[in-house]
Amino acid sequence: MKKIIVNGGLSLRGKVVPQGSKNAALPILFATLLTDGVSVLRRVPEIGDVEVAIRILKSFGASVIRDGECLIVDTRSLKYTKPDSALTSKIRASSYLIGASLGRFGLVEIAPIGGCDFDKRPIDMHLAAAAALGVERFGDTLTAKKLVGGEITFDKVSVGATINALLMASVAEGKTVIKGGAREPHVLSLAEFLISAGADIAYDGDKVFVTGRPLRGGNYTVIPDMIEAGTYLSLAPLTDGEITVEGNVAVYLDAFLNLFKAGGASVTADSAQTTFRGNLTAEINVKTEPYPGYPTDLQPQLCPLMARFFGGSIEETVWRGRFGYLEALSRFGVGYTRYESFAKIHPSELKGASVHSPDLRGGAACLMAALAAKGKSEIYMPEVIMRGYERLEEKLSSLGADVKIVD
Ligand code: UD1
Repeated sequence: MKKIIVNGGLSLRGKVVPQGSKNAALPILFATLLTDGVSVLRRVPEIGDVEVAIRILKSFGASVIRDGECLIVDTRSLKYTKPDSALTSKIRASSYLIGASLGRFGLVEIAPIGGCDFDKRPIDMHLAAAAALGVERFGDTLTAKKLVGGEITFDKVSVGATINALLMASVAEGKTVIKGGAREPHVLSLAEFLISAGADIAYDGDKVFVTGRPLRGGNYTVIPDMIEAGTYLSLAPLTDGEITVEGNVAVYLDAFLNLFKAGGASVTADSAQTTFRGNLTAEINVKTEPYPGYPTDLQPQLCPLMARFFGGSIEETVWRGRFGYLEALSRFGVGYTRYESFAKIHPSELKGASVHSPDLRGGAACLMAALAAKGKSEIYMPEVIMRGYERLEEKLSSLGADVKIVD
């Protein structure tokens, strides 16, 4: 079994070039299934979830080749295949097959959907969007002789359902209006890719107007990963260091930057780079919300900071059960009290520990605690963290961390 060995307690300093956004790259990869052509994608992160998505694309007959900084996806001759549950159950993003496969083949057999196990993850809104465009359901099979534009209204914000709605609407006959869709940067990034492939998508207030068209290959550079950026930036106050993330990540991270400013960290940010330095001087309290609120994917990473400094609290409104990682974090000395979707983190002394990665971002939080704690830690199953973090060992080492991944 693989593990990351960490000798913690070192100050981390230096620059990080962010990877492409995992949460943008995955829907874009599935969106290539809608196109009859060759797509050229840049800054697709080399992470576990992307590798699985590529294997799923290949199972439909796509050719996917990495050529330097480009990923070239040829979807000209595809054939419908029943999705392989051994692959779909590894990643949550396999749910985008609903929109992509219905859009391309008028058919999808829903296979088990994977991803982090922190709550029930329903797909009723995805199915309602499909039904609004003329899809019929027979058990786990969804079919449509042709997708026909219509009105899709979401009464709660769902990233996944909005992505499936955009995928289907882009190739449906006629016009679709999507109301109440998610506005996360990765959703807008998907729309940008689809537009590069010939889609007709226009945003107006809280509505999105889509007119279906045949799509050709797209040409697109994936936006930087705000969650990876936020994780590395958090390491600066946590380890008495100074970390700069290059590029314009600040544009996506308002809520995160404001939280750290309120906590007393020194934050400088512009369109070229973002730098964190200095310790926290106050407790931090956060409520996760859909964008532009504080992202749920950056909540576990706050706990080691709260523990090391003045404590704080997290109210989780997106995934009410997203606190399973706290038990693993408690092995590093993090004291907490949990009340359903709310957790209080107590000021605590961090210490080295051996744990299994509890989930992707919870595993990142454990790694952060290990980097801050003096002494040796071991985190088993780093693959869980590497589902979302590219070249983890190399990037941390370049900041001065003593980390090694061994088998
Ligand atoms: C969510 C997050 C996303 C994050 C990802 C992984 C939001 C709005 N979404 O996206 O930022 O990257 O988890 O952590 O912050 N829901 C339903 N029915 C559905 C679909 C969703 O009730 O058909 C509910 C979910 O139970 C959840 C909420 O809607 O409480 C948001 O889910 P959704 O945005 O769809 O999840 P992801 O796309 O996985």
